[in-house]
Formats: sequence, C-alpha cells, structure tokens
Amino acid sequence: MPIINRIAEYTPEMTAWRQELHQHPQICYEETYASDFVAQKLAAWGIEVHRGLGITGLVGVLKGQPGTGTIGLRADMDALPMQEDNDLPYASRNPGRMHACGHDGHTATLLGAAKYLAETRNFAGTVHFIFQPAEEGGAGARAMMNDGLFERFPCDAVYGVHNAPDLPLGQAETRVGPLLAASDKVSIVIKGYGGHASKPHMAVDPVLVGAHVLVALQSIVSRRTDPLDNAVVSLCQFHGGSAGNVIAAEAELSGTVRTLKPATRDMIERSIAQIAEATAMAHGATAEVTYTRMYPPTVNHAEQTALAMRAAARVLGETAVRSDVSPLMGGEDFSFFLQEKPGNFLFLGGGATGRENAPLHHPRYNFNDDLLPVGASYFASLVEQELPKG
Ligand code: NI
Repeated sequence: MPIINRIAEYTPEMTAWRQELHQHPQICYEETYASDFVAQKLAAWGIEVHRGLGITGLVGVLKGQPGTGTIGLRADMDALPMQEDNDLPYASRNPGRMHACGHDGHTATLLGAAKYLAETRNFAGTVHFIFQPAEEGGAGARAMMNDGLFERFPCDAVYGVHNAPDLPLGQAETRVGPLLAASDKVSIVIKGYGGHASKPHMAVDPVLVGAHVLVALQSIVSRRTDPLDNAVVSLCQFHGGSAGNVIAAEAELSGTVRTLKPATRDMIERSIAQIAEATAMAHGATAEVTYTRMYPPTVNHAEQTALAMRAAARVLGETAVRSDVSPLMGGEDFSFFLQEKPGNFLFLGGGATGRENAPLHHPRYNFNDDLLPVGASYFASLVEQELPKG
C-alpha cells in the first residue's frame, strides 16, 4: 500500500496548513500561533483538546472503536531564531524567526493523520496526538512530561519522525538503539591575573592558559575514548581580552559534547573538569567548569522499531526502509519520551530533484510538501496496524 488514497486527497489542504504555519514561526514556548492553529483544527474534527502542557504544548485525544490500547504520536511546533533567505510567497513574516528545521511540516503531517483517523476511526483504542513546543534547545518534551503528559494521557508506545532533506523522498531510515546523540553544553572560565602586555611575568595570562586547555581537551576523543565508540568535543567559542596591549584577567571557552553511551558521557564530563582544572593549575591559573546535561541520547526500542519499519514499509515499500544506518551526533528531545516509554524515532526523506534541498537549519531550507501525505500515511498506518479493530 502506498500513500493512503484519502490522505492523498488532503494534500492541497495539508500544504496550505504547512505554508501558513511557515509564515508564522515562533520559538521556545512562544508557539501560540501553531498551538491555536492545531487546537482549532483538532476540535473541528471532534478530537478532544487539552492545552497548557509545557506552556504552549497540547494533546489531542481520539478514541476509535472500543479497546484498551493507546499510542502516542508526536510533532514539534517550534521554529529557530534565524532569518529566512527564501523568496517564497509564504516566507516567514516574523523577522529573525524561521521554520528552518521543518517543524511546520511535522505539525501539518500529524494534523493530516489526525484528520484521517478522526474521519475513519478504523482502529480500536485511543490515539494521543502530542504537539510539543521548544524542541530546539528548550526541552519542550520534558516540560510536557513535567506537566503530567504520560500520567494524564497514557501511551503504550510513542512514535516520532523528522524530515531529512539529504535523504531522497520515498525513503526512510531508523535503527535499533541510539539513533541520535546526547547533547550537552560546557563552559570553562579561566581566571588568571591581568596586567600590562609588556610585563607578562607580572601577570597570569588566561588566553594562553585557555589555548593550552583547548588543545588538551582534544585528547579526550583521540586518547580516552574507545576508537569504536563515538564522541564529539567541540569548543566553538573562545572569548578573552579587550585590547592588544592588555593581558586579560579572565577568558572563557564554551562548546558542546555529543555522546551515544551513558558511560562515555560520564567519562567526558569527568575528563573535561580534570584536564581543564589541572592544566590551568599548571600555569598558575584556575578553571571553573560548568557542564550542563541537555538532551539524553535518542535510543530506539527494538520491538517498536520493527513495528515502525513495518508501517513505513506499507507506505514506501520494503526496500525503501533501512535500519542499518549509523547514528547521527545531532540531538533531539524526543529522547526524553523514549526514556519513559517504548517507541521509535524515524527519518523520512524529503530530498528531491528540482529543488535545492538545503540542509536543516540553513537560511534557504524549506520543508518538501510532497512529504506531507507520506508522513501522514505512515502515522495512520502505524495506528491501524498497532490498534487493530477486534
Ligand atoms: Ni528538528
């Protein structure tokens, strides 16, 4: 079965929703436009709407034929704080805000599935449509859980998707185990002793110390991490000094750490503190390390991954769905759901000839609307497969 026929008929409508959402991007718990838009649509289709989970997040509850099974389907609604560089009739109307990750498409996709399932109710049990805020760094998934998401709306399993412009349209990728990395932040403040640039012996130069720390930290991946494991330590900012003839009193390094295994994450957190503090001490300075754990790794469950692949194969064909792919070192806050509930996260290809296929988070990125009926058919197939009528 390719795209569900009824859903194919929704394509112009889903495209209009997606392009409207694209014009009104908002970030990090400010997603009132998308939240109102989704609530109004769900209610119009007779789906029960519960708002205010994670501030702008909401849940739609749809009951099919009598049954005890429950399934959670998730879409993220937030945009990014960046300026769009697309010449489109439906380009962003909010300066400095852009749907550059395709969450407008994810929202329209899940709405399409919700409309179809509300119309057909060809399943037994309950579907929870989870529309979350603040995926981009704000941990909106965790905020919804803190507001009682899974206590109020129990889910036997949860499923989510992300579009992938570098994967051809009609293909899907996922894997059992870690699919995406844990994503953490690190900041290191080096404190030296400021002074005149001509009298370095009277000062402790934190810029020099910071340079030693920066280089030394690169040995964590090359010398302390198992060569067959995966990790990234990227120190992307180095700030210090205000003039060419002044030795600064302080300098700061900051960056990100990506890991797939809890033990590796622990080791890198410990190693950064040890190396930074000891390197600073060796130069007569101090280092204050702040390591902040942001998103856990996105770890797919084996059983639900097999089920997700089956549902995706019904839409795209057996050979179009791969599970032998490598994990990516990006982060995703669907990971919080997967720590609590079994489930799967899957990439749906959106790349096609005749379009630019700019990468996610690029100022010329644009969600491929041809993916809307594919994603909606995937979600609908998953529900009909997992909650079959008796
Ligand atoms: Ni995204």
